[in-house]
Amino acid sequence: MRRAICPGSYDPVTVGHLDIIRRAAALFDEVVVLVAVNSSKKTMFTVQQRVQMLRAAVADIPGVCVESSDGLLAEYARSCGACALVKGVRSAQDLDYEQPMAHANRYLEPGLETVLLPAAPAVSWISSTIVREMLRYQQDISEMVPAGALEILSAQLQKENENR
Ligand code: PNS
Repeated sequence: MRRAICPGSYDPVTVGHLDIIRRAAALFDEVVVLVAVNSSKKTMFTVQQRVQMLRAAVADIPGVCVESSDGLLAEYARSCGACALVKGVRSAQDLDYEQPMAHANRYLEPGLETVLLPAAPAVSWISSTIVREMLRYQQDISEMVPAGALEILSAQLQKENENR
């Protein structure tokens, strides 16, 4: 049984992330989508909100589950017996970021491979950063966020607006 992890901040999940998760699910027996902490990022959504949005987004993909961790990714991979990390790359800039990360994770956990999948061209311009920026300016993000997650995201934003 080959288990992979799709780690990320997912703040929030995008259709680009979902494409990578689907492709990872076709390559491995089991995929854990892991909401992990990126120490250099301050997030718009809480871990619980991001997990909830992801669970709605991947509900129809067999063999995929969603978890969160505030520890080291390599340690999480060891503890759950994962053999690979799967990430999407949209650009040379992404590759420059992912390559040392892949080496660091393999240094920490020898045998843990990182599989980099090129983002689908149609969604390669979409990022969580762009979605958050559009949200700040009340723009339509319905084509950038998976349908199930969109409902949760919209409900959360409405609740926050009402409490202001
Ligand atoms: O979506 P992101 O922000 O590019 O994801 C980055 C993430 C969360 C996968 C990365 O920051 C991470 O793995 N964080 C957990 C701590 C860790 O293991 N760091 C890398 C080795 S030093």
